[in-house]
Amino acid sequence: MDNSVLIRLQNIHRIYRIGSDMVHALRGINLQVSRNEYVAIMGHSGSGKSTLMNVIGCLDRADTGAYEIQGIRTSDMNGASLARIRNRLIGFVFQSYELLPRMNALKNVELPLIYSNVGFAARRRLAKEALTRVGLGERMHHRPNQLSGGEKQRVAVARALVAGPSILLADEPTGNLDTQTSSGIMELFEQLHQQGQTIIIVTHEPDIACHARRIVRMRDGQITSDLPVRQDPAWIQIHSSADEPQKGGL
Ligand SMILES: Nc1ncnc2c1ncn2[C@@H]1O[C@H](COP(=O)(O)OP(=O)(O)O)[C@@H](O)[C@H]1O
Ligand SMILES: [Mg+2]
Repeated sequence: MDNSVLIRLQNIHRIYRIGSDMVHALRGINLQVSRNEYVAIMGHSGSGKSTLMNVIGCLDRADTGAYEIQGIRTSDMNGASLARIRNRLIGFVFQSYELLPRMNALKNVELPLIYSNVGFAARRRLAKEALTRVGLGERMHHRPNQLSGGEKQRVAVARALVAGPSILLADEPTGNLDTQTSSGIMELFEQLHQQGQTIIIVTHEPDIACHARRIVRMRDGQITSDLPVRQDPAWIQIHSSADEPQKGGL
């Protein structure tokens, strides 16, 4: 296997069954992401983005198809093995932060390390480092309700990073944030990317997606395009409309 390939999905299908109803949420997904890539997944609501992220993040399992992360085939794993892979390799950031309200930032960030049995002193040190890395060194003892939306999302990013994941997955991370706060989060992601972090982000906002280097578009559970950002319609549209006033002024 090519060492640079981090995740490989082959013909992934996921069907939700509720009683006699079936929703075919992923219909034959083929996707490869290499180390240090920064990928955005776009698509309308219901196109299967979150389902795909949950499969990639080992929160859910495909019904058929093969999924490998770091050369480890997860398709036949039981829940406990999948959870171990998740703890070791995946950092997940959600739209609604998912912080524990009674714990301060430091304890929220320490949580994944408690699950992987890291001792107290190392846990505290790593959590402080992660919070400093996301710019929250001064807010470690605040509880979520004492933090702004952007700060809460930074805590969530610190928690996702604290165990040194191979891949950072973010499902609509700016979905609850205003434009300015969203820009701050995207700057943070850019820094992490520059530092070598592999990132996959889900968004339906073109200007957010254009921070990535590659855009994968989905519709009805399938990938409809997969292009370097500069060849994607979102990037082309944003940059051509930005040029217009200049042209008009000439
Ligand atoms: N837990 C679930 N149970 C049943 N259907 C689901 C579940 N999660 C998602 N779906 C359905 O699967 C499809 C894809 O959903 P999702 O992956 O959440 O899309 P997106 O994130 O692009 O909005 C939708 O039709 C949705 O209603
Ligand atoms: Mg979603």
